[in-house]
This record gives sequence, C-alpha cells and structure tokens, in this order.
Amino acid sequence: MINFEFHNPTKVFFGKGETDRIGKEIKKYGKKVLLTYGGKSIKQNGLYDRVMKRLQENDLQVFELGGIQPNPRITSVRQGVEICKKEKIDIILAVGGGSVLDASKIMGIGVYYDGDPWDFMIKKVKSERMHPLATIITLAATGSEMNHNAVITNDETEEKLGLEDPSTFPTFSILDPENTMTVPRDQTVNGIADILAHVFEQYFNPTKEAPLQDRMAESIIQTVVETTPLLLKNLHDYDARATIMWCGTMALNHLIGSGVDGDWSTHGIQHELSAIYDIPHGAGLAIIFPQWMKYVLDLIPEKFAQFGERVWNIPRNGKSDSELGLAAIERTKNWFQGIGAPVSLKEVGIGSDRLEEMAAKAVSRGPLGSVKKLNKEDVLAIYKMSL
Ligand code: NZQ
Ligand code: ZN
Repeated sequence: MINFEFHNPTKVFFGKGETDRIGKEIKKYGKKVLLTYGGKSIKQNGLYDRVMKRLQENDLQVFELGGIQPNPRITSVRQGVEICKKEKIDIILAVGGGSVLDASKIMGIGVYYDGDPWDFMIKKVKSERMHPLATIITLAATGSEMNHNAVITNDETEEKLGLEDPSTFPTFSILDPENTMTVPRDQTVNGIADILAHVFEQYFNPTKEAPLQDRMAESIIQTVVETTPLLLKNLHDYDARATIMWCGTMALNHLIGSGVDGDWSTHGIQHELSAIYDIPHGAGLAIIFPQWMKYVLDLIPEKFAQFGERVWNIPRNGKSDSELGLAAIERTKNWFQGIGAPVSLKEVGIGSDRLEEMAAKAVSRGPLGSVKKLNKEDVLAIYKMSL
C-alpha cells in the first residue's frame, strides 16, 4: 500500500424525504442563494417546485442559473461566477446530475479569482477556497456529490478537462434516491457504466498489497452487477435506486482509491470523445474500458484473474492468469452490452477520421495511466480496438 491522506469534509444526508431539509440547511450559510440546474428535468419531475418552496419558506432570496448542459461548458461557469459576484451570493445550490454539480464547483472557486475560471482547468492557477456549495444530486453516476473533482468542456478549444482540487468538496449534499426515479433508462445505464468505470480505474492498479481496497472495490462492482437488472426491470424500484446511488457515491469519494495508484487513463481517453462528439460520459467509458483492459492485461494478469474469480465467479479450470483475465474482460464487455450500453465507437456514430487528433490531445499534458504509461500510439491503438 502507498501512503495516503484521506479527508472528506462533505456532509451527506441520505434517504427518502431528505430533500425537504434543504431550506433549513441552506439558511445556516446566509440569505442569498444561487440555484443552479440543467435542462428541463427538475421542472418536469417537480423537484424545482419542491426546492423553491422550501427555500421560500425559509425567507431565502433565490437567484437562478439554469441551462447547464451535460458535459458542462465553461460559458455556464463564467455566467455563474458573474452572478455570484454581482449579487453577493452566500451559497450555491446545485440541483442536478454531475454536470450541474461540476459546473457549480468551478463557479464556487471562480468567485475568489479575478481571471477566467478556465485557468483552473488548465492548471494556470490554483484555487484557494470555494464558496459554500450545497448539492441535491439527481443522477447516480459521477460521485461529484462527495468528491473534489470537476470536469468542464471548452467548446472554443474542443477540450474537456478534469480538475481534482481539495477545495471543491461540496459543503453538504442531499442524496435522496427518489430524486433519481425519473432518470430515463439510457441515462441510468450511462450512470451505471460510469460507476463501474470509477471502480475499475482504482481497482486495476500497479500497487501491491492493498487487500481491503480490493475487497471494497469488488463489493461495489458485485453490488452494481446484482442490482442493475432489478433496477432496469423497474426504474421506480426505490431500493434499487438507493443501492445504485450509494454505490455511485462510494465509487468515487476517494475511499477505495486511498493507498493505491489508480490508473485513470480510460477517463482521459474518453474525455476526448465527449469533447469532440459530445457523447455521454458513461457511454464512452463502456466502449473504451474493455479495450483498455485487453491492452494492459499482460502487465497485471494476476489482478485480472482475481477480478474474474472473485467478481464474475469464473472457475480457474487450469486457466493461466491471462486466460482467466481475458475471460473476465469478455464477461465485462458482454455485461455492458446486456444492459444496453454501447461497446463500440461505431454504435455512437464515431468513425476513424479524428482518432489521431484525439490521441494526440489525450496525451498533450503528458502520458496517461499508471498500469501502463500510455503515449499517443497506445491511445491510438485503444481507439482503433474500440471501433
Ligand atoms: O439537464 P437535465 O434536464 O437535468 O437532464 C439531465 C441530462 O440531460 C438528465 N437528468 C439528470 N437527472 C435527471 C435527469 N433526467 C431525468 N430525471 C432526473 N432525475 O441526465 C442528463 C445527463 O446529466 P449529467 O449531469 O450530464 O450526467 P452525469 O451525472 O452522468 O454527469 C456527467 C458529467 O460528469 C463528468 C462527466 O465527464 C460529465 O461531464 N464527471 C464528473 C466526475 C466528478 N465530478 O467526479 C467524474 C466522472 O468521471 C465524470 O467525468
Ligand atoms: Zn466517470
């Protein structure tokens, strides 16, 4: 195990009905709230009205910034920073999926910076602090509700960049599984693919001797694999929604990644797809992950064999680690396919024309990954395998 520091300051309120405490909790931080949200979903499912009612009951003054898109754009962040500064906002309340939360995090640090908030994403400046940020997450996927990550897209430069910044943990987050009931089937599947991808990024690592992290990761994967069919059978199954929601949070609140050198190259490779083709994050991960696994299989065959035996219950039957690992990778790909996730670039309408360009961009800030340091040729090979 490698040394680590673990600090997660986000307070979590989990469960049915917890949404209704929003007014009282927000009030502890001041009077002026910037409510941020995405498209129509929270207006259609009644969450917007419910939140507004609670805020108004508590005499809070609400400013709004809606229209934050999936794969959130830096332009929304800039708008949010402007409102926060002009109106002297006390606390930001992000209601939505990971995109709304991520954009709100960068707004929150942008408040204390005079330059362009994109500077944080290109690591030109470091944040010093974030404005108080409350979140009501409405889609189980990113873990953004309890982590210090944000991913923002810049349409001008066709870049999608991630930031890991200790000041961007939400102050508190409400995880009410009922708020995810209206997530359509395809987004539910994308979210599940993202959750598994987060576990894979941390589980497949070059670190030896982190057995607790391995077992925790394997239990999240198994729980997701067991629960997904129940949820897809009935998208209104509260218990399944609750289980997947907590799996999503636990997959990326940095607990299972502490003490191991996570890889994260698949996320880097996928971000280029979303930056140029605007495909959903989880869909891109379902396509790339099995191919990355095959590409690095022989560097950590024992880990892939462990994955096959413990997670997929594949019997050893005289197989070598590599053979067992390959069978596990096939199972993973077939499982994604079985839940309706895409497993090839062709399925999401991406051809070979811009693969070189994306491979070059993916490594423009240095090689990706820890299991194998991937350079441009490696990334290109993985894109080609994914066609
Ligand atoms: O915009 P609205 O109308 O709200 O609709 C959204 C959006 O179209 C919809 N949706 C969300 N909650 C819903 C709902 N529809 C019906 N009912 C609900 N309750 O779902 C669509 C996708 O929303 P989005 O927020 O984009 O999805 P997700 O939560 O998967 O977030 C994806 C973004 O997060 C980044 C991704 O790169 C991508 O930009 N990531 C953030 C991470 C983090 N902060 O830690 C880590 C991840 O690896 C990921 O990179
Ligand atoms: Zn992800």
